[in-house]
Amino acid sequence: MSGTPQVDPPKPPAPAPGGGLTRRALLVGVGAAGGAGAMFAAMGALGLAPQERREDYTPPRVSDFHLTGRVAADVVVLGAGVAGLTAAYELGKAGYRCTVLEARERTGGRSLTLRGGDRVSELSGETQTARFGEGVYFNAGPGRIAQWMVTLDYCRELGVPIETFVNNNASAYVYNHGMAAPVRARTARADVYGYVAELLAKATHAGALNRRLTADDRERLIDFLRRFGDIGPELTYEGSDRRGFQTYPAVAAGVPLQGPEPLAEVLAAGIGRAVTADFGFEQAMPMFQPVGGMDAIARALAARVGEDRIRTGVRVTRITGLPDGVEIAYQGPDGPGTLRADYCVAALPPHILAKIPGNLGPEITAALATPTPVAAGKIGLEYGRRWWELEDRVYGGITETDLDITHIWYPSYGYHAPRGLLVGYYNTEENAELYGALSHRDRLSRALTQGKKIHGEKYRSEVVSGVSVHWERQPHIQGGWVRWPSYTGAFELLQRPAGRVHFAGDWLTHLIAWQAGAMESARRAVTAVHRDALSRTPPARSDASQGKGT
Ligand code: ALA
Repeated sequence: MSGTPQVDPPKPPAPAPGGGLTRRALLVGVGAAGGAGAMFAAMGALGLAPQERREDYTPPRVSDFHLTGRVAADVVVLGAGVAGLTAAYELGKAGYRCTVLEARERTGGRSLTLRGGDRVSELSGETQTARFGEGVYFNAGPGRIAQWMVTLDYCRELGVPIETFVNNNASAYVYNHGMAAPVRARTARADVYGYVAELLAKATHAGALNRRLTADDRERLIDFLRRFGDIGPELTYEGSDRRGFQTYPAVAAGVPLQGPEPLAEVLAAGIGRAVTADFGFEQAMPMFQPVGGMDAIARALAARVGEDRIRTGVRVTRITGLPDGVEIAYQGPDGPGTLRADYCVAALPPHILAKIPGNLGPEITAALATPTPVAAGKIGLEYGRRWWELEDRVYGGITETDLDITHIWYPSYGYHAPRGLLVGYYNTEENAELYGALSHRDRLSRALTQGKKIHGEKYRSEVVSGVSVHWERQPHIQGGWVRWPSYTGAFELLQRPAGRVHFAGDWLTHLIAWQAGAMESARRAVTAVHRDALSRTPPARSDASQGKGT
């Protein structure tokens, strides 16, 4: 779903030729002599130990200036999304005087959480007002965080409490075109794994892999496949209690589900795609979310930056690089103005930046116009009772479908509360375009018609309110995220500043469409600004004028 590339793990060195000391033998020896620590160090040297790839980051500190006699500079940050807020927060740690200009009326950018009373307008001119009840919220943008992401470090640092986001639930459903009824993810998984295990085990047993595997390897593989697929002594998959039950065991034994369907039907149903949805390194369970809504992170960053330093409703109209700084012209609530600073961190979407006039040069403009926006949309559906818990016994997680809604997300918060909110579609590309082109009312109607195929009439008749967001129609954002044709050329060029203008955003990372990307990119820009500021003698501008309207 992310559109980001997989990263290959580092390859271990080839085994020693000529029957020399094998790596395993070497490690056993090191372990016996030096214990686990020595063995782990040796594994690292051999490229075998798990390695974290996070680059070291040291935030700028006030002492960096005190110790060198320089002064912190003025920085104008364009965009109060996650990248811009992170940059301003990090620069603020060293005393940089940041002014954040945000064209929208609220901070957070795509990290948008909607609650009852919130209004959301689209470029079509349509405005929706969320009618959600108390305690109900809708994360219309980012909704989940992986454990390895820097986002969690910011939650810790900012005191934003987190809770588990259920990204995969065996009790959720899989439903594809042509299926008579949805099946539980656990049933789909049991059948797909079971048949795959049967095929591979039988092929192995019949000698199809003899040229590839030793007799020991084959035995071990078959042993694994028995467990993986829960196949029988004859290596045949005949179903198992992993599939779930019609009636779950209690005092009496459970009543098994009917099935499994024959292999050809399982393949034809296409459920394999659905049961691999969380295999990616970004999606594996457990994932996390801030308690009370994703915008808690952006709000906490904004609070640390200082609301007085963030000016909303201010649209940048020109970016002019100067020999010793930058001048930003803008249109604000009180009319036009200009602002000068020593540095600029431009943290707007690239396709928006590309259209802002200035003197950064045609190469930069062309580079900014290189990535293409990707459509993405979501709808939040509020219900007056949590029938997915009460009747379907689904507590969080995601139903996967090849219908144009693509997913239904069940809430990972508010369990057993009187009401709750589903994400009735989270789709991208063509499916998002299809819904995005509709009015909200029509999106709602279509989403309910589709979801009813999975959950029945209650899905349509019991909905009490809904809000949809199509990111390509969001003012000043105009895209779910972006896609680069390649991570060379323009992507590399924009990692470097254009004079005193530094760029930041998830779009400048290999973590596109993740807040972690925005944060990592902001850190890189902050490091570059700080390095530049510290390299200057005499001190960088100390007489910068800010906020002077012209
Ligand atoms: N970060 C986006 C997601 O979670 C792509 O689906």
